[in-house]
Amino acid sequence: MGTIHQPVLLDEVLAWLAPREGSILVDGTVGGGGHAAAIADRVGETGRVIGLDRDPSMLELARAAVAGRPVTLVHAPYAEMGRVLEELGIDRVQGVLLDLGLSSDQLAWRERGFSFAADGPLDMRFDSGSGDPDAADLVNRLPAEELADLFYKYGEERYSRRIARRIVEERRIEPIRTTARLAEVVRRSLPPPARRGPIDPSTRVFQALRIAVNDELGQVDEVLQIIPDVLAPGGRAAIISFHSLEDRRVKWAFRSDPRLNVLTRKPVTATAAEVAANPRARSAKLRVAERCPN
Ligand SMILES: C[S@@+](CC[C@H](N)C(=O)[O-])C[C@H]1O[C@@H](n2cnc3c(N)ncnc32)[C@H](O)[C@@H]1O
Repeated sequence: MGTIHQPVLLDEVLAWLAPREGSILVDGTVGGGGHAAAIADRVGETGRVIGLDRDPSMLELARAAVAGRPVTLVHAPYAEMGRVLEELGIDRVQGVLLDLGLSSDQLAWRERGFSFAADGPLDMRFDSGSGDPDAADLVNRLPAEELADLFYKYGEERYSRRIARRIVEERRIEPIRTTARLAEVVRRSLPPPARRGPIDPSTRVFQALRIAVNDELGQVDEVLQIIPDVLAPGGRAAIISFHSLEDRRVKWAFRSDPRLNVLTRKPVTATAAEVAANPRARSAKLRVAERCPN
């Protein structure tokens, strides 16, 4: 089966990256390959797209989506983009795209544990074969204060302490191993008015755990350092973020690096028509910077 993910801000990404025939670009979060396929069509047979992903299952979907196009897929985190390009014998590239976060496919695979809406094991690793600690490890092992800090820092969860205390009480009775049980513990730890409302009460806790499990902000910080080195003069970096913790980092890194010119004074957001067709686009923010001449 193919991908169910709809690439966000696709027209805007193509307009800002302006991929030219014969150029080489990196898609650091290739996912289901939606952006990569469209970019590959622009660069043509003489160009190339290098598509990275940390999740081997996403690379399988990408493989089908980009079949017959000049795309090289590599299983690697985007923070290792420099090493990957070196190994491929590529010195500099004309563009870098990052579409952060997770894809609709990953959210839909209940066995990956990303969603509170479907019961599954509390995993949340992008690379579940990595042997790294998963979300269940953090939830059952971290002291209450560390869990609370994590929910507050990465989820901006105002009830972080109550939730962490409740988790510690519940895991003493029985370890928390599934998404449904965690969602239920979170819900019961909140005062009744906070259990209602437009967004599910578990949203922020799940986001925080996913960020921590995958060291997502560490990955963003690392790649932001590397991007000016891998871009050829005049090359562009386009980064789509879905929450303020990422967007702030991108904004600051683009502004403070003397090798980059910021092209988007304000982040580019989705049109009303795109949000209506794809609600996931609602919180997307695209920032673009260009590598200055040497
Ligand atoms: C929003 S999806 C990308 C969707 C893609 N642009 C498309 O059009 O289908 C984000 C992807 O980034 C991957 N990812 C997350 N963190 C990563 C990292 N540090 N390095 C490489 N890939 C990562 C996820 O596995 C996921 O497939």
